[in-house]
Amino acid sequence: MREGDGDESNPVDRRPPGAGQPPLMSSPRILLIIGGGIAAYKSIELVRLLRKAGYVVRCVITRAGEQFVTPLTLAALSENKVYTNLFDLKDEVEMGHIQLSREADLVVVAPATADLLAKMAAGIADDLATTLLLATDKPVLAAPAMNVRMWLHAATRRNIATLRGDGVTVMEPDEGEMACGEYGPGRLPEPAAIKDAIDVALANAPAPVALTAPEALAGQPDFAPANRRPLYGRRILITAGPTHEPIDPVRYIANRSSGKQGFAIAAAAAEAGAEVLLIAGPVPLPTPPGVIRVDVETAVEMAAEVQQGLPVDAAIMVAAVADWRAADTAVQKIKKDGSGQVPPLALAENPDILAGLAKSPERPKLLVGFAAETNDVIAHAEAKLARKGCDWIVANDVSADPMGGENNRVHIVSKTGVDSWDRLPKQAVARKLMEKIADELEKRAPLERD
Ligand code: C5P
Repeated sequence: MREGDGDESNPVDRRPPGAGQPPLMSSPRILLIIGGGIAAYKSIELVRLLRKAGYVVRCVITRAGEQFVTPLTLAALSENKVYTNLFDLKDEVEMGHIQLSREADLVVVAPATADLLAKMAAGIADDLATTLLLATDKPVLAAPAMNVRMWLHAATRRNIATLRGDGVTVMEPDEGEMACGEYGPGRLPEPAAIKDAIDVALANAPAPVALTAPEALAGQPDFAPANRRPLYGRRILITAGPTHEPIDPVRYIANRSSGKQGFAIAAAAAEAGAEVLLIAGPVPLPTPPGVIRVDVETAVEMAAEVQQGLPVDAAIMVAAVADWRAADTAVQKIKKDGSGQVPPLALAENPDILAGLAKSPERPKLLVGFAAETNDVIAHAEAKLARKGCDWIVANDVSADPMGGENNRVHIVSKTGVDSWDRLPKQAVARKLMEKIADELEKRAPLERD
């Protein structure tokens, strides 16, 4: 839920830039919920980094968390009262649960244990931390930490998908050796990475704190992502990665798309302040901070999720969607019977998601397709632009930069001409594209920013 502009109890000016607001009165405020687990000790470093960057930090520690860090340490570092489960009636008079959950600009859960994430997903409120998480109307960022098996367990996967679907930003944990001796994903991301994710989440939060008064950020260079948010107020859908089209339970048709360019675009869109829905084919890439991600396998699933994600202001279709799928997926593994007979593989055409969206009544104001070409790049892109009915085709020469590489040389082909960019890292292409998209959206559908 977007918070109301008229919250008089809140000293931070939450209106968009301009409009002659008074200067910003207060620094961004973080409510840090510290769950149990050995990784809780890293919260000490996180509080230190946040304080150094000028954030106001208020800590809440769960009963399990108190086994690993003391409220006294956190109080000393945060220079603020620490709330524990012993939060009593006297505290309630000073500051109620609801107020505590809402006075922050961002709620951060670090470490977010499997148990805490499960309770958040189910809406259970049986202690102070979970009550605050259920009562808050502010964006929530969770940095998970748990044993690798717990992280990979179907129940945790379900909970993470639910939370992401609800708009909670769940970071991917780090991979490595765990305190329990096992190896894999599940380690708490490093405090510096959590702080980066906090910067981005705040940049995406409805309160354009830095835009309101950039001078208030003097001495806080780390907050730079929030200085310009040209896509604030826009909703952007991005498809990325390949699709996998099953032939039987163990085989599928795929392609070499790495998803890197699409994920870089999703990251750049979130940094630029957009609300981002990333519909991703099967790729082992972490979800960029501030992005809502939906994972799919097949083109048909991707088409359905795109439909579900509408309406949006702009859609950027970066996915390398398989043109064909197996006409019939075998229920059991197709066996080689030794006869030398090759099994028939009949194909069916997949829906063209981009072309379908171009014709849809909910067509986004700006519709961008991608084209990987090896020759006659611009001529092919111009033909594709007409065939697909989109506004731009971002054509990349995959003979120079094979799929999966780090760089891209792209040409933005539209009805009005071709804009050719130098060969750039995919992240730089993504940022430049976001600038161009923000300008174009401003021309096509200016936003009321007051
Ligand atoms: O036809 P081709 O695959 O070359 O077109 C590429 C563009 O169309 C990309 O933007 C891709 O995401 C999109 N596309 C799609 N659905 C398909 C095939 C391609 O959205 N079935």
